[in-house]
Amino acid sequence: ERKETTTMIAAHELLKKFYHHLLMHTNEGEEALNYLLQRGFTRELIEQFEIGYALPSWNATVTFLANKGFSLPLMEQAGLIVKKSGEDSYFDRFRHRIMFPIHNHQGETVAFSGRALGNEEPKYMNSPETPIFNKRHILYHFHEARLPMRQKQQVVLFEGFADVIAAVQAGISHAVATMGTALSEEQARMLRRNASSVIVCYDGDRAGIDAALRASETLVEAGCYVKVAMMPDGLDPDEYVRRYGADRFRHHVLDASLSLTAFKLEYLKRGRHLQNESERLRYIEEAVKEISRLSNAIEADYYLRQLANEFSISMDALREQMMIYGKKQV
Ligand code: GTP
Ligand code: MN
Ligand code: MN
Ligand code: MN
Ligand code: MN
Repeated sequence: ERKETTTMIAAHELLKKFYHHLLMHTNEGEEALNYLLQRGFTRELIEQFEIGYALPSWNATVTFLANKGFSLPLMEQAGLIVKKSGEDSYFDRFRHRIMFPIHNHQGETVAFSGRALGNEEPKYMNSPETPIFNKRHILYHFHEARLPMRQKQQVVLFEGFADVIAAVQAGISHAVATMGTALSEEQARMLRRNASSVIVCYDGDRAGIDAALRASETLVEAGCYVKVAMMPDGLDPDEYVRRYGADRFRHHVLDASLSLTAFKLEYLKRGRHLQNESERLRYIEEAVKEISRLSNAIEADYYLRQLANEFSISMDALREQMMIYGKKQV
């Protein structure tokens, strides 16, 4: 058994080099390489992240693995190839995709995610769950980010591969990403063991904001101090860095990230016309309701005071309203 997982990892390591070679040094890889360069990935970054390209073929990977002497049934269990139903033959899982290798905590290659070059669906295709790839326990770029994370006692959590790579390009090496799934408790604990504070930096669209709030709850439960970065105009971090540059990303997004409560209060403002009196009152009520959920009385008082100042309302009125909502009394 131990032997089998070792073999699976060895296959991933060899394939990673094969895919990378195809991307960097062959005519077949040119379209994929141009796509990456056009998106702003540099050759240096492509090398650093060992990005590759899988050919638009049904058997290039099967043939490569067979020639290296790997057992095809084992390679199917490793998620690299797929068995034809009712037949004893196999075909490539990843075809005509940009390949992002995914590493475990030891830095071993245990999975891939393949991105389509155009608008084909699915946009990203991940390796399935295998004996070496337990999705709940893996975060993209965790192995490389661990040391800077520990040194800074901080980590920046993103949604996607491109966001982590853009962050690293912007000098943010303590960056990791979930891979399109909700942050698991295990992943939250992995972060907590290596850093005390987490900046959640998800996409600025509706889905990203909702996912950021859910991830934040999981992180708070794991004992992390959470801050949330606001991405303007529905941008994702990758687009932001390309459009506005590294400096502005660091200072206007990461340094300006808000406490979870402040983020929620900001979020409640979205789409409301606060110059309109009744909308303003409704916002204040919602904000007080949010603040009433805080278990820390000092924190609650702090945000209540901000609200009082922002809208010129007496603290007495806000406190009274908060008592109506709840358990907490300030
Ligand atoms: P780019 O378009 O390459 O910049 O990707 P993105 O990271 O901005 O993608 P998006 O914001 O749409 O999704 C965030 C993350 O969710 C991606 O990095 C993937 O890990 C994952 N994801 C996105 N689309 C799919 C999909 O179709 N299937 C799966 N399994 N995961 C996806
Ligand atoms: Mn190379
Ligand atoms: Mn998104
Ligand atoms: Mn995105
Ligand atoms: Mn993106």
